[in-house]
Amino acid sequence: MKDSYQREIDYLRVSVTDRCNERCQYCMPKGYHGWAEKADHLSADEIVRLVEASTHLGFRKFRLTGGEPLVRRDIVEIAERMWLLPGVQTLGLSTNGVMLKELAQPLKAAGVRSINISLDAMDEAIYRQLTGGRWEAAMEGIGAAAAAGFEVVKLNCVMIKGVNDEQIVPLARFGAAMGMPVRFIELMPLAPGGPVDERHFFSVKDAMLRLREYGELRPTQLRRPGHGPARYYQYGRGLVGFIGSVTCDDFCLSCNKLRLTADGKLRPCLGQHGEVDVTKALRENRRFALEQVFAQAIQQKPENHSFAENFQVQRPMTAIGG
Ligand code: 5AD
Ligand code: SF4
Repeated sequence: MKDSYQREIDYLRVSVTDRCNERCQYCMPKGYHGWAEKADHLSADEIVRLVEASTHLGFRKFRLTGGEPLVRRDIVEIAERMWLLPGVQTLGLSTNGVMLKELAQPLKAAGVRSINISLDAMDEAIYRQLTGGRWEAAMEGIGAAAAAGFEVVKLNCVMIKGVNDEQIVPLARFGAAMGMPVRFIELMPLAPGGPVDERHFFSVKDAMLRLREYGELRPTQLRRPGHGPARYYQYGRGLVGFIGSVTCDDFCLSCNKLRLTADGKLRPCLGQHGEVDVTKALRENRRFALEQVFAQAIQQKPENHSFAENFQVQRPMTAIGG
């Protein structure tokens, strides 16, 4: 289905929880403990019903996210049931990787096609500082994902000036060695009150300058429409991608997605507050009620995000899903 700006919206990111076993400074506001009430989370049944309804409106691509989606005990079941729906063409998952050692294989068997793993540093101390987690566990997870045989495994780095900008080149080299594209992402202002703010912003342009000090960046044709906003370059033997969410003027031009939060809201845009509640439609047993909420959210998609306009966070990143 097309939105008001003629963009075909066929990609749904499904956040299954706002909880996480790490504390990334750019994602989790200080002291955030998630919703106290477990009942706020959609059940596996509800998620599958929503995903099925979305396929009737033309949604084809799906990604599971969180918080950290792997902390949900029924994540493999959710993936499996989604994959069995006829309209689901691709299924991906975004994770911090630390639980992949146990779950990479079952997720692959359930039908997950591609995995995006957050990796913000090759240096253990910097990794710990930024995420609160253990670098070794993330490395084990990345190894398990490589062994499980997914179609694509990508690494994601959110760039934070003065913290991990020196890590860009080592990360690109690690990705090349692993055969995994590394994407460098501009910091979006989505975790207020924390130690990371606009003074830490590091642009895609600066990342490219940094990488070019050590090698050539050769443009590729890999910017496939409908496959996300990254622009890809060959770098040595590897592939690096850049996600200029904040500085890139045409970033929203090819936006093809909608987000479903774990507490049952459809979110048309990361950088705009509007949300459409789906819980009422879930309770009603009218055939088209769910499809209507999807159509409504698509109609409400703004042309652009509002990050440049003194955006005030109401819902932090961990409760939206990256
Ligand atoms: N800015 C940019 N990207 C973010 N992510 C999380 N928080 C932010 C932020 N404030 C991205 C990370 C992570 C994914 C789940 O979401 O890349 O890998
Ligand atoms: Fe899409 Fe909004 Fe993100 Fe732009 S900011 S790419 S419109 S979700």
